[in-house]
Amino acid sequence: MIIVGCSASQKIAKEIAKKLKKPYYDLKVDSFPDGETHLRFTNNAKGKNVVLVQTLNNPNDKLIEVIFAAYTAKDLGAKKVTLVAPYMAYLRQDKRFHSGECVSNKIIAKLFEVFDEIITIDPHLHRIKSLGKLFHKKTITLTANPLLSQYIKSKIKNAAVIGPDAESFQWALDVAKSAGCKATVLKKKRYSSTTVRIKLHEPELVKGKNVVIVDDIISTGHTMMETIKESKKSGAKSIYCLCVHGIYADNSLPKLRKMGAKVIATNTIEGETSNINVAELVSQALKK
Ligand code: R5P
Repeated sequence: MIIVGCSASQKIAKEIAKKLKKPYYDLKVDSFPDGETHLRFTNNAKGKNVVLVQTLNNPNDKLIEVIFAAYTAKDLGAKKVTLVAPYMAYLRQDKRFHSGECVSNKIIAKLFEVFDEIITIDPHLHRIKSLGKLFHKKTITLTANPLLSQYIKSKIKNAAVIGPDAESFQWALDVAKSAGCKATVLKKKRYSSTTVRIKLHEPELVKGKNVVIVDDIISTGHTMMETIKESKKSGAKSIYCLCVHGIYADNSLPKLRKMGAKVIATNTIEGETSNINVAELVSQALKK
């Protein structure tokens, strides 16, 4: 096995290789003057299980790179090509919501047929309940939940967890239970066809607590922002936004910080909030 760090994930790829005591190589990536991707393996891939590590937030260029890398590895004689995508893109569009739309997750599954194995962390699944039903290759789905619980347990005293919607609540509850604290949920209540209000289900659980809002993804941050407002109304002492994948579209990180929240994420997407390391989780999966 060799570990190859694609352009978005070299830091974590190096850590994974170190933990596994396997050789590590950077994938050399640049572009032609017109923007086309050019890449080169600097190692011998022949006969190897080539593990390509590439996270897929802001995915388009990263996707082209990792798909080109996979075909190239096969062409160079790799025995097996494994994709480690700590954050997996294009899963949210899993049906045709409006006529004529593409169903992105199915297209991604087709593009990924080049991989022999796919490993990812907390993929955002809705109607399709497991990645194995989407990708027709071996898939390993990991969860960072225990690491989130561990973070709360070791760093946040007197904590209460909030799941920002009914869908994320089971997940938040799971994190809270392992962290040894209580959890509540932000609920949408519809008063009429045009009036929807959100409300904390059990505001008394939050009063005077260090509130931890737990979600899988922070993208535009709107979900977190609404939950921060409700937490403040209910008398939270301090507020943490804790997520697996910190995408921070629309400049949402400074916006959340401006509201007084401390923002913590894992390093599935490298950045200034990546305080929780998933390298060990991935290494264990690669040992299997
Ligand atoms: C929703 O289903 C997810 O669990 C997240 O709550 C959502 O993706 C967050 O998006 P945003 O940050 O744009 O509100």
